[in-house]
Amino acid sequence: MAFSVYVTRPIPEVGIRILQRSCGAVDVGPADRAQTAEELIAAIRNRDGVLCNVADAIGAEVLEAVAGKCKVFANFGVGVNHIDLAAAERLGIVVTNTPGVLTDATADLTWALMLAAARRLSEGVTLVSSGQWSGWTPTQLLGHDVTGRTLGIVGAGRIGTAVGLRSAGFHMPILYVERRQRDELDRMGGRRVELDDCLAGSHFVTLHVPLTPETHHLIGERELGLMRPDAILINTSRGEVVDERALARALREKRIAAAGLDVFENEPHPLPELLALPNVLCLPHLGSATVATRDRMAEISATDLLRVLNGDAPLHRVAG
Ligand code: DGY
Repeated sequence: MAFSVYVTRPIPEVGIRILQRSCGAVDVGPADRAQTAEELIAAIRNRDGVLCNVADAIGAEVLEAVAGKCKVFANFGVGVNHIDLAAAERLGIVVTNTPGVLTDATADLTWALMLAAARRLSEGVTLVSSGQWSGWTPTQLLGHDVTGRTLGIVGAGRIGTAVGLRSAGFHMPILYVERRQRDELDRMGGRRVELDDCLAGSHFVTLHVPLTPETHHLIGERELGLMRPDAILINTSRGEVVDERALARALREKRIAAAGLDVFENEPHPLPELLALPNVLCLPHLGSATVATRDRMAEISATDLLRVLNGDAPLHRVAG
């Protein structure tokens, strides 16, 4: 009951209530920005646990400064590339995450981006809302078909597979890149292929790999060069998986048709060259942003934080 915990940013109330039921002190960081390492260390020092999120940079210096007292960093989110897991392991600090609960929301948003990028929705919205629309014409804002086109899934884990399953109604052949066969996709006629074949053979390439040293700039100049000129690239994983400068060049030179991006290399500052292009649709990292999903993420991260403090095994341990 005497536990003192820190939540780095406001989260849905349900998570705060869970923490308040079992902790003496629950303090919440600022809503409007991520904190610097110095600010985090000052706020976390002397805390038993921290509920952090994917916008916090939890490097070795933060973990080292709070080790000893702080037992757990419960991450509100599934991706943990922003936490130095090796340092957490070394220091015996448990790290948890929230896998599974955001699969459907993120797969839905991936489809929203695929459809919107293919059918040029952001250009259409701008045309109407700017008052520039002069009426229907046979050649206005012609986009690309979705039905029957090939869907390439790079990373067929939970979210990639969920994206593939949603394609059934669109009658799309599926190519996927994954270390092992995915029965759910194979049953739909999906074919596991190498990355280069997926890039060359797909009309839509959607990225669902975690960010690791191996996947950093997985999609760069060479890979973009393999894609079809009418291909559309979708990224709802992590910005750093794509070399944004190479992508901006490929889009500008129309070497690929369009991109739908929910994540960026330097959030919240997408490359200005990308923002200036009409054939790229950018969203502010909304993959898991539904009321129900964020409530579940708050519940799971708060519950796991308390489990660790109470000496129980967390449900979703990723380190420590
Ligand atoms: C995650 O969980 O990793 C997403 O990027 C945010 O929900």
